[in-house]
Amino acid sequence: MRKLLSFTSLFFFSLVLFQACQQAPQETYETEWLGETKQEIINTIEDQFQGFSRTMMEVGYRYKELYWAGQDGNWEYAAYQIEHMEEAMQEGFVRRPAREASSQQFMSVAIPEIEQIVQDGDKERFLQNFTRFTASCNTCHAMEEVAFMIVKIPEIRTSVIHY
Ligand code: HEC
Repeated sequence: MRKLLSFTSLFFFSLVLFQACQQAPQETYETEWLGETKQEIINTIEDQFQGFSRTMMEVGYRYKELYWAGQDGNWEYAAYQIEHMEEAMQEGFVRRPAREASSQQFMSVAIPEIEQIVQDGDKERFLQNFTRFTASCNTCHAMEEVAFMIVKIPEIRTSVIHY
């Protein structure tokens, strides 16, 4: 009987302890605007990183820079833009994995193609290929139901990087 009692009390003691742990006040952090609890902070950071549109704003910028780099025959800058465009896409897939499938053609055909041309420093082929490269952006836009976002080769130079 004593043994049973001590077992029962041990059981209740553990239960109380478990509950006490569960109800322990959450650790709070002092931040300017990120939030107080760990969860709040994580949520704010995720929101602030934003989704795929942020990725695309960067890709759009790098696409324009790439075009003018090619026009200038500035192959180092062109290679730099391709590398960063690819990185931006990869980071975008971490945020929005569902977008990756539609970008298959862009990532595994269009990017390596233009990368090779840039490496060869062939301006004529670059300008020819840029239409195909652009079409690959639009293919994904159609697949992702943003067909109204039509990418067109830039006509006006906005880049501040000149050769
Ligand atoms: C995953 C396939 C995919 C590929 C490849 C792709 N896009 Fe996009 N793009 C999207 C999606 C999806 C959106 C809409 C984003 C949203 O709704 O959050 C978008 C939106 C955009 C926007 C508008 C961004 C904004 O919010 O203002 C631009 C600009 C853009 N894309 C440029 C490009 C260019 C240039 C290329 C090729 C170099 C390209 N995209 C390739 C999927 C893609």
